[in-house]
Amino acid sequence: MSVVVLISGRGSNMQALMEAGLPVSAVISNRGNAAGLEIAAKRGVATKTVSHKDYPTREAFDAALAAEIDRHSPKLVALAGFMRILTPAFVSRHAGRLMNIHPSLLPAFPGLDTHERALAAGVKVHGCSVHFVGEQLDHGPIIIQAAVPVRPGDTPDRLAARVLRQEHVVYPRAVRWFLEGRLVIRDGVVNVKGNDAQLVYSDRD
Ligand code: GRF
Repeated sequence: MSVVVLISGRGSNMQALMEAGLPVSAVISNRGNAAGLEIAAKRGVATKTVSHKDYPTREAFDAALAAEIDRHSPKLVALAGFMRILTPAFVSRHAGRLMNIHPSLLPAFPGLDTHERALAAGVKVHGCSVHFVGEQLDHGPIIIQAAVPVRPGDTPDRLAARVLRQEHVVYPRAVRWFLEGRLVIRDGVVNVKGNDAQLVYSDRD
């Protein structure tokens, strides 16, 4: 019943999953200096670096990553700030058990610099989405979203901090639902057995 978490950096979402008491069995990073690795190791969780720089192609890197994941036979692979685009082969191999958190209300603002782009677009509500990973970048059935207001005078950093606080709320919730076997996908739409709320709204700073 374990979860393998893939990171590239800070690891605050990874930490939120651990603090929620979820069964994280290993953390794998593509960068050896990812701060999250140390946080995980301090908690006694197995860590490993699989550097994309050690492999000539995306396919070779993804195969090495998959082999490392398989050693833990996880029920779920959770991407938490993992900054590599995964190959279709990797995605289909983990279909239905690969989750991501993205800092926007998808399908708006896939890709990078979401907070800057949200401010530039003048949206009044922003947020984050936890979704199953599909073959397209930041695309796939949405499990839960958290919305926050965009305030006059917001900077990308202030907005990012407001969103991140909610990321730490919704990601553990989504992972728990998955492990409890409560997520049902029909026609690309996710429902939660027992009707838990799949939308969080917070105007807290
Ligand atoms: C988060 O904003 C997450 O949504 C995005 O990358 C960031 C990772 O932050 N995919 P952290 O490493 O979890 O602190």
